[in-house]
Amino acid sequence: MVYKIAVLPGDGIGPEVTVQAVKVLKAAGRRFGLEFDLHEGYIGGAAYDATGHPLPPETMELCQQSDAILLGAIGGPKWDNLPVHLRPEAGALLPLRKALNAYANLRPAMIFPALTDASTLKREVVEGLDLLVVRELTGGIYFGEKKRESIPGGERATDTLVYTTAEIERIARKGYEMARQRRKKLTSVDKANVLESSRLWRDVITRLAPEYPDVETSHMLVDNCAMQLVRFPTQFDVLLTENMFGDILSDLAAQLTGSLGMLASASVGDGVGLFEPSHGSAPKYTGLNVINPIATILSGAMMLRFSLGQPEAARAIDDAVGAVLRKGYRTRDIMEEGRQRVSTEEMGDLIAAQVENPN
Ligand code: IPM
Ligand code: MG
Repeated sequence: MVYKIAVLPGDGIGPEVTVQAVKVLKAAGRRFGLEFDLHEGYIGGAAYDATGHPLPPETMELCQQSDAILLGAIGGPKWDNLPVHLRPEAGALLPLRKALNAYANLRPAMIFPALTDASTLKREVVEGLDLLVVRELTGGIYFGEKKRESIPGGERATDTLVYTTAEIERIARKGYEMARQRRKKLTSVDKANVLESSRLWRDVITRLAPEYPDVETSHMLVDNCAMQLVRFPTQFDVLLTENMFGDILSDLAAQLTGSLGMLASASVGDGVGLFEPSHGSAPKYTGLNVINPIATILSGAMMLRFSLGQPEAARAIDDAVGAVLRKGYRTRDIMEEGRQRVSTEEMGDLIAAQVENPN
């Protein structure tokens, strides 16, 4: 099989982590007989510098014509003062997600046994943690009408949080499908005690739940969920939630695993899937070869699983990450006493070698 992959390294440490993920994908390709036809494209600040726009039409076209997209990270202080439509986040990442109709953002937070003591929470709290945040990605307050107007004495800014039944239903079905492949527990997170959009959200989930009798459905308010995530996180299997709540809760969930540098993500819907680490472009670490590439490497595994139909190759990458951590290799963010500190590149080399020759 030959797969056409759009590789969008982006800004900051994006290029460094992307190189490592590509290296590991190629190693999986050699072992499982897969070929990757890789095409690089500009996105974010790098695209703005090269072409005047953070999401140039060539990049959009490349993405639409690919089987899957691997993205590093975008943004940085250099582009923060541009008009909003030219900024990497609002001008490239959000429109790309929207154009691909990538409405389902899957963010697994799973603790590798070797890293149980790397978490900032006690071992007994995080041991065995394995949850999946299913975040709605193309609706809600990120995409509702926005405006800013002058009023006497200052300004007024408005963001609008909108959801339709259809938008809630499709992400809920995705959540249920995921729960069915896991421990069959779905916690729908909302703010139904305050928000009308959350009340509609809860109505839709309540209507769908009987169609999934094998899955245990429950509802939780988002503030309580944040608290439960640090109190007793192993109670969760699938957390289903809207766009902004999912943004916030997924960072929280990531830190439970020891580092945001471990959290992969997949953004999928009806079109081409987009795979990227959940972390940002970490401008101050750019070029230092110290960043943890595992989130991006695991995003490559998610690509194999969710877009390319290669679950065995995906599992080989997941297993290789576990094995390399078990052998004691650590990047700076997950370093503990008595372990072997390695660079971004060395971590990529170790995982690629392990994928090709598991031992
Ligand atoms: C994420 C990021 C983005 C988001 C930003 C960069 C727009 O925080 O993918 O979680 O809020 O979706
Ligand atoms: Mg975020």
